[in-house]
Amino acid sequence: MAGPDVGGALASNIVRFHEYYPDIRVEVVEGPAESDRLEARGSESFAARDGAFDVLYTDVAWIPHFAARGWLRPLDGWFTRRMQSKFLPGDIAGSRYGGKIYRVPNQSDAGLLYYRKDLLDAAGLRPPRTWGELVAQAQRLQRPPELWGLAFQGKAYEGLVCDFLELAWGNGGGMLDPRSQVIVDAPAAIEALSWLVDAVRVQRIAPESVLDFQEEEARKLFGDGRAVFMRNWPYAWNLLQRERSPVKGLVGIAPMVHGEGRRKSAAVLGGWGYSISAFTEEPEAAWKFVQFMATAESQKVGYEKGGILPTRKVLFNDPQVIAKSPHYRVLYDVLSAARPRPMHPEYPRLSAILQVHLGAALAGKKSPEEALKAAAAEMRAALASPSP
Ligand code: GLC
Repeated sequence: MAGPDVGGALASNIVRFHEYYPDIRVEVVEGPAESDRLEARGSESFAARDGAFDVLYTDVAWIPHFAARGWLRPLDGWFTRRMQSKFLPGDIAGSRYGGKIYRVPNQSDAGLLYYRKDLLDAAGLRPPRTWGELVAQAQRLQRPPELWGLAFQGKAYEGLVCDFLELAWGNGGGMLDPRSQVIVDAPAAIEALSWLVDAVRVQRIAPESVLDFQEEEARKLFGDGRAVFMRNWPYAWNLLQRERSPVKGLVGIAPMVHGEGRRKSAAVLGGWGYSISAFTEEPEAAWKFVQFMATAESQKVGYEKGGILPTRKVLFNDPQVIAKSPHYRVLYDVLSAARPRPMHPEYPRLSAILQVHLGAALAGKKSPEEALKAAAAEMRAALASPSP
């Protein structure tokens, strides 16, 4: 089971797999695009122990939840430490839980700020570093409705939580502190949400429709040349550089902006990988598939077709792959400094609660403070009574 195959990389690699292993047939069950809905689909199936999926394409954010419940097969016997050392350390760390490894990382991800290099250059501007600079530049350059200042993930789903967390982290706040205490109602987080809400409702640098945006909607607006800035993941890069793309050659990337008076921005560590269900009846075949899909060859196909950033270190030095891309340096720096979301077994529930309240604030139904106070209360209650 996996989400939609943007760019067709999964399908191409499955064709290659079938050529190598004619005795194993892989059937893809395509789930929804939103990470959290896909997670819910997986959880339902696991809770029913129905064995409907042998292999899952797992988001790094789900591993503690699945692993703590015994729903994934530990891969340590196959995926040795030596093999793990060939992958980026952040992606490996995000694949582990309770001392075991539950995923072969295949796609690395970290939040980035895309900008229109041509427009900034023409105005003599450098990419913004703080939220205030971003808003000022966006207001100066935008000409709505043809050209908007900012596109981001504003729909109430996991993507919005990532966008919010980057702003909160870049302002000294966050979701949980290191002792797993909820901190979304602290001033630093409230201020971060206020920026985002004001961007839509007061400064109007993002269209109202951003409330329905996931990654792809943001990529399309920016890709059509209709936004100056975009918060998105690395996958968008290759798609923006395609032959007939209106913004081919006009795009730059920078680390996400941070708060005024703060020194560091923070990208959310995202990413996907292959996990094997604890309920599969075909563990050996499943492993052959997982191993094949995460080879350097397969990851190259992923990068070329889907813009999927590899997890194997060697590909970051491959002249045909990342090294040829002018954005490589920024990307590597952002990736190396990316922060995981809380690695907590209740994370999906906490995120689901937060999504609803972030959405209400963006829609203007609640103030950022009311929204985050309500979210924090529900999150504390959820932590006090963990789900089975
Ligand atoms: C990307 C990230 C993933 C995140 C999702 C949110 O797919 O890789 O980790 O949860 O976006 O929309």
